[in-house]
Amino acid sequence: MTASVRVDDCLSKQNGHLFIEKCDAIDLVREYGSPIFVLSEDQIRRNVRKFQESFRKGWPDGPVKVLPAAKANWLSAVQRILADEGCGCDIYSPGELSVALASGFEPHLISVNGVPKDASHIYNSLKSGARITIDSVEEVDVIEKAARELNRKAYVRLRLKPVISGFTDSSNFVAEGLVPTDIAAMAYKGGLSYDYVIKIAPKIMKMENVELVGFHQHHGRHHASTRYWEEQMKAFAGEIGRVCRALGGYQPKEIDIGGGFAIPRDPFNAATDYTEPVQLAALYTISKALKALGTTGRYKVLAKLIDTIVMKPNQTPAPEIAAYAEACTGTLRRELPKQGIKTEGLMLQVEPGRAMHGNTGVHLSTVTNIKRMTSPIRWNIVVVDTTEFWFTGGRYEHHLHDYVFANKMDAEMKDKADIIGRSCYGDRLMPTVPIPDVEVGDVFAMFDTGAYQEVSMSNFNAMPRPATVLVTGDRASVVRKAETEDDVFQRDVIPDHLKNNISETDGKISA
Ligand SMILES: Cc1ncc(COP(=O)(O)O)c(C=O)c1O
Repeated sequence: MTASVRVDDCLSKQNGHLFIEKCDAIDLVREYGSPIFVLSEDQIRRNVRKFQESFRKGWPDGPVKVLPAAKANWLSAVQRILADEGCGCDIYSPGELSVALASGFEPHLISVNGVPKDASHIYNSLKSGARITIDSVEEVDVIEKAARELNRKAYVRLRLKPVISGFTDSSNFVAEGLVPTDIAAMAYKGGLSYDYVIKIAPKIMKMENVELVGFHQHHGRHHASTRYWEEQMKAFAGEIGRVCRALGGYQPKEIDIGGGFAIPRDPFNAATDYTEPVQLAALYTISKALKALGTTGRYKVLAKLIDTIVMKPNQTPAPEIAAYAEACTGTLRRELPKQGIKTEGLMLQVEPGRAMHGNTGVHLSTVTNIKRMTSPIRWNIVVVDTTEFWFTGGRYEHHLHDYVFANKMDAEMKDKADIIGRSCYGDRLMPTVPIPDVEVGDVFAMFDTGAYQEVSMSNFNAMPRPATVLVTGDRASVVRKAETEDDVFQRDVIPDHLKNNISETDGKISA
């Protein structure tokens, strides 16, 4: 059996090798070193256009704007591509505001989200002409003060917190996998509950320098199914209606449905991630009972049972972006008029993060060691020169990425192994997954690493972080340089009283 992974869009297999657009992954590692993050410009542009076309098709009522979430991938080169495609930008921090402004997004299409926003962030956002998406009561007066000082109008939206009572399946956002989505969404920090909205909205509407232009919502990633999105939009429309009625028939000019939709290959895999420990745990009682067989007999039986455990990344793809857009727009067009909200001329915005960036990235690393234990149980370890500390965004969200050995895509998957990273932690990037005949020097490719991963890397073990390369057809360019060891230590400061025992010239400890 060869690798069954879906290679499509910017990825292809040629002569048994993985290609990203027209670049052989093996050549990229040869030229730019290992490990590296690789991004595909073509995939970025394709994804944006899919969002734009699908949402425009479903929302002929008014303008549609795609505001990809900068947090998912705030590389300057990536942001420039998105601005070039006519996108807006969902930002969280002052740093993200800076990159958005430098990349050329139209300021009124920058949505400044999140809690907390300090006074200087609010001031600078308003000065740039960005929209503030209000997510706390305390922000209102700060916005009014800044608008007065700047002598300009602040255009704001209120981030609502609709209760998704129609969707009680377990949330994928919560590791244990048993929390109903409606409850998990309520516990998530974003959004203002109804009582607060109707307290601050009338106050905002009386302010001379502040104009309420619409509503926003974002619930985090709970479920890929279109049924979830229908229920979410129904809840959003209901909440908009409730607020607008309380405000005496207010009509919004723009609504923003946030992000949260899945990556096509959907590396979310809490089920698999948690199955393996559960399977090993199931052996606990058996293993106790097996003590009666003596040590040799016990290990013999356990070895057979452990051999049956093989994990696989999720093979159920997420619905297409077109199906997601249809579920959202269809529900909003049906539900908003029922709530007395006119959709004609209403701007619809969407803020995809993972679904925009996930499949634009591949991480390439190299096999450095292979360790095999043959007795008393069989356990294989394939060590690669990357680390889980460079995938913290995905780890936090229980990702198990699909993968291939980029130089052995036609090879039969004959065995299984843990794929282990280079840090001193257990660093189990992949638990007991199928592998071909692996050798030192093989190139290991993890898919769908374009969202949240590179931007959340750490320097654990004093490891310099790797470079990012952007592929455009048969060209590749470094868009974020690899760190050097000097970069890793550049923020360290040695207080005077600790300087004495080190010679300034050679750095050696003096006698
Ligand atoms: C306000 C807002 N919009 C959009 C997103 C993007 O979410 P996702 O990457 O799940 O699409 C986030 C992520 O946390 C967010 O907070």
